[in-house]
Amino acid sequence: MNTEPINLLATSNRRLNGCIEVPGDKSISHRAIIISSIAHGRTEINGYLDATDVNATVNACRAIGAEITEKDDSLIVNGNGLKRTCGENIELNFGNSGTSMRLMMGILSAQKFSSTLIGDASLNQRPMKRISKPLLKMNADIKITDGKPPVYIKPVSSIRCVDHRIDVASAQIKSSIMLAGLYGDRAFSIDTPRSRDHTEIMLSDFGCNISADSDSIKMEPGKLISPNKIEVPGDISSAAFFIVGSIISKNSQIKIKNVGLNPLRTGLIEILEMMGAKIEITDQKRVNGETIGNVYAESSILNGIDVPKELISSAIDELPLVVLAASQADGKTSLRNAEELRVKESDRISSMVKMMDSFKISTNEYPDGLDVYGGSIKGARINSFDDHRIAMTALIASLVSDGDILVENCKNIDTSFPAFIEIANSIGMDINND
Ligand code: S3P
Repeated sequence: MNTEPINLLATSNRRLNGCIEVPGDKSISHRAIIISSIAHGRTEINGYLDATDVNATVNACRAIGAEITEKDDSLIVNGNGLKRTCGENIELNFGNSGTSMRLMMGILSAQKFSSTLIGDASLNQRPMKRISKPLLKMNADIKITDGKPPVYIKPVSSIRCVDHRIDVASAQIKSSIMLAGLYGDRAFSIDTPRSRDHTEIMLSDFGCNISADSDSIKMEPGKLISPNKIEVPGDISSAAFFIVGSIISKNSQIKIKNVGLNPLRTGLIEILEMMGAKIEITDQKRVNGETIGNVYAESSILNGIDVPKELISSAIDELPLVVLAASQADGKTSLRNAEELRVKESDRISSMVKMMDSFKISTNEYPDGLDVYGGSIKGARINSFDDHRIAMTALIASLVSDGDILVENCKNIDTSFPAFIEIANSIGMDINND
């Protein structure tokens, strides 16, 4: 394995033009693999994201007995049903993937073997008690020191379904509960603020009796039957880099086809539109319960805004890009109520404040966010803090910088968007290994 740091150099002052598709949605890919692994029947997953985070989920699902093979751009999963598999005690390394570890904690809690869950240096610093706490209430046997991986899970006689109240808007917490709850004994509810609902949508597509309204989910354990095929839409979190890139740079226009437009993921589009961005959505349709469409975006004049609290959760992974867009807006943008950013792949509030400092853009940092003052971006050397989204955001900034941008340690771009450089360069950027 190549462990050399990968530094990337992006040439300044470019424009974006073209029509592209982006690879499959990461959140939906994880769920498609996990849920088809515990369902009855054969599932063909088309357009899944082939990236290191999702491959961590594939490995874990193989460990619980699913047969998973690759066929062209698809995965074929032969699930082993919801049975609680017996097996050797296992150690699973989830690399950088918080979603894989957290969702699999729900499933692994119900198996008849012990598991030890570890990750890379970043994942081993991320909070896991938020997942183990509700699972412990369901009779799971989970041990964690200091609230961080390694996570030790032991078999239990049964999983008990209880009603939950979760105060954080986190899809990963509620998903781990729903997945463990499939192995339980009765209907139960989760009261929680809204966050991406891909698990609810997919469980329903697999025949689970589940219903959800604005702040409550009700579901029953039960057999899952494969819908045979899942089409994974393009990842809006990947499309986001080119949407923002085309909006902030001059003479740019871009069309991105087949993007997942689940309303609990489109906060970035709403925020950019509030700032004055020209974005158009066309050809919306529904596939496997998810909304898909084409997104068109072009060079726009942006104004600073106070980002509404209600849009934080649906833009959570795109907030670094909101900061970049804010740096190109007229006046001040205030991004608050976003303390969750501190526990992502890096502390993204601190990472973005440092990036803006290097770009000579003024900010004020708060425990739950930052203010950004519009200005002009200077060429700089940027620390990515080994965070894929920070690295890609810094590279996109080169479109408007007055000098080239060098981004350190970009290896983790492979966790979510291995084709990023190829696609970026095909529509006008110039990014190369340094
Ligand atoms: C994800 C949920 C979000 C998001 C993450 C992916 C998911 O995390 O930031 O990148 O697929 O469930 P939280 O659940 O911690 O908000």
